[in-house]
Amino acid sequence: MKRRELRPGIEWVGAVDWDRRLFDALIPLPDGTSYNAYLVRGRERTALIDTVDPTKADVLWAHLADVPRIDDLVIQHVEQDHSGLAPAVLARYPEARVLATPKARMMIADHLGIPAERVTPVADGETVSLGGRTLHFVHAPWVHWPETMLTYVPEDRLLFTCDLFGSHLASSELHVATAEHVAEAAKRYYAEIMMPFAKTIHGHLEKVRRLDVATIAPSHGPVHDDPASILAAYDHWVIDAPSNLVLLPYTTMHGSTAKMVEHLVAALADRGVPSAPFNMTVSDLGAYVIRLVDAATVVFATPTVLVGPHPSLVVAAALTSALRPKARFAAVIGSYGWAGKAAETIQALASGLSAEWLPSVFARGLPTDETLRALDGLADTIAERHKGLG
Ligand code: FEO
Repeated sequence: MKRRELRPGIEWVGAVDWDRRLFDALIPLPDGTSYNAYLVRGRERTALIDTVDPTKADVLWAHLADVPRIDDLVIQHVEQDHSGLAPAVLARYPEARVLATPKARMMIADHLGIPAERVTPVADGETVSLGGRTLHFVHAPWVHWPETMLTYVPEDRLLFTCDLFGSHLASSELHVATAEHVAEAAKRYYAEIMMPFAKTIHGHLEKVRRLDVATIAPSHGPVHDDPASILAAYDHWVIDAPSNLVLLPYTTMHGSTAKMVEHLVAALADRGVPSAPFNMTVSDLGAYVIRLVDAATVVFATPTVLVGPHPSLVVAAALTSALRPKARFAAVIGSYGWAGKAAETIQALASGLSAEWLPSVFARGLPTDETLRALDGLADTIAERHKGLG
């Protein structure tokens, strides 16, 4: 992919990674991703906003082949998929000044080996003139690291947002074609990366709204030429009440837990409560966390392995807890052979949930009529708690 013009004098110099399927050795990337870097030229200075993942170094060097000088290397975020080539960029352009938040300074030293004194810290709201073009820095901590900032170019009404508003979506298109084009990927990205920081993100949305922005250029995925659309989507994910939806991460070893899940799904449906079971031994974790953005209730369903939950539910509980979704209710159901503490273990693992724990339902061996009646009772309780949710 060649350099692509966003505005006269402002170009995308990123890399599309069609084949990447896993990020952080955790996050599935069904649609690949991109690492967007941008070259911003003023009359007097040229700035490079972020770099690309080190695996795509050759792509960045091809983009910069005829760029004789970079005066400012802006490191908006120290995570290596954007900053990993910063040391190599500085080796190639030794005159370049590194601009980053004060918080990023030590992190750049720690993670990239660039001495802290090489970094010029920029304050929130500080501006740097490139000559006829301004970089206006907006601190945005916890998107999803503590050091992040956005970069606004007022003359072009252009906002570079790093991970914020990004999507893991490899595309030949630089711009979002339609809202639907990017909606699922952007939601997946929000869920996986930013959901734990929803309150902070809410504040950042307000900051962005105070700027006059025509184009949002994130560091992953397509560029948004309709900022209102992606801002409205974030509003929904961040602010709105959870939906009338029960998420059921489960696994089953000999069928008992699966029978309980099937019964609960049907009982909930009878009471007007939609649910989404995810077999955690085969499901895409990303698909699960997308639904986690909206669900009002999470019911963990696990067989008992020795005395604890199945390891796949250990992962589900820990992940759910870490992502701090807005679910208001939670429960544990499942089966055991002779004894167990699966429910207590799941509740401890998912302690990051700000949810009311509803009574657990467990069967010793096969679910009995009594078990199924208890599940009906759980469905009654969930339906009652969900009243008023859309
Ligand atoms: Fe795309 Fe947090 O790095």
